[in-house]
Amino acid sequence: MTQESSHASIWLIGAGRMGGAKLRGWLAAGVPVSALAVRDPNPSPEMAALLQQHGIAEEHACPPDVLVLAVKPQVITQVLDEIAPLAGPNTAVLSIAAGRTVASIARHFPEGAAIVRAMPNLPAEIGRGITAAFANPHVSESQRELCDKLLRAAGQVVWVDDETQIDAVTAVSGSGPAYVFYLAECLAAAARDAGLPPDLAERLARATVEGAGELLHRSHLTPAKLRENVTSPGGTTAAGLAVLMRENGLEDLLRETVAAAAHRSRELSE
Ligand SMILES: NC(=O)c1ccc[n+]([C@@H]2O[C@H](COP(=O)([O-])OP(=O)(O)OC[C@H]3O[C@@H](n4cnc5c(N)ncnc54)[C@H](OP(=O)(O)O)[C@@H]3O)[C@@H](O)[C@H]2O)c1
Repeated sequence: MTQESSHASIWLIGAGRMGGAKLRGWLAAGVPVSALAVRDPNPSPEMAALLQQHGIAEEHACPPDVLVLAVKPQVITQVLDEIAPLAGPNTAVLSIAAGRTVASIARHFPEGAAIVRAMPNLPAEIGRGITAAFANPHVSESQRELCDKLLRAAGQVVWVDDETQIDAVTAVSGSGPAYVFYLAECLAAAARDAGLPPDLAERLARATVEGAGELLHRSHLTPAKLRENVTSPGGTTAAGLAVLMRENGLEDLLRETVAAAAHRSRELSE
């Protein structure tokens, strides 16, 4: 956080999984407690303890620089009605609610409101997420920078110029962690079928996905190069990959998977 942004006031609406991860990231990045306010009618005991420990207020007298919306899509319309009066003319609204378009959020605020729509993903909980964000034309350069910094506390940030790309982002990085968890499940099931006891099968699958992910994180090599480096011609990995990489194999399956998720994201968008 820069000196400038550390003094910008940030109000978080909804301190659940995602909002809580953001809050922890901001505190770790040195955002002063006096700049923060958190509203959540029913925080988890851990969150309630954190809010109490830091003495974080529910609101302050002046409107916030950024109003961060991190509630479930099911309650967001009601929440937008509740919180719209909290925004001032210079407040940027930063929404991480899946499926809520900038236009549908803007309806709750006066004409010309600055709105950023962002799609984070689950590894934000450990500061290793990736968030794609889209800003409407009313977002100033400094508001965009501030939102970028706030989102970066949970990992990487990329900006898209076309809001419709958020559907594909949702299908890739938003839903992606679940695909990888499922990969670990399937690898464990295959390990059991290959004759390994269930505990060992699960442990091998889990550690393999963890280790490969970490290696990818630390390496400057592309995934393809990393794969090629462990694939000896005619060896065991090559035999396994020949199945995964055959026609109608994993690539086609993932293309179909992402297309289905993106389609659902478009269906759910309002
Ligand atoms: N988790 C992810 O991986 C992920 C990824 C991308 C985007 N998102 C988006 O992030 C948003 C939050 O998801 P989440 O997983 O963090 O959900 P969550 O854990 O349910 O957190 C939402 C929090 O908001 C609280 N809340 C409900 N009504 C409120 C109100 N009127 N004012 C203030 N707070 C209120 C909820 O309390 P109660 O529990 O009492 O309802 C809960 O603590 C969603 O819109 C989701 O689409 C999540």
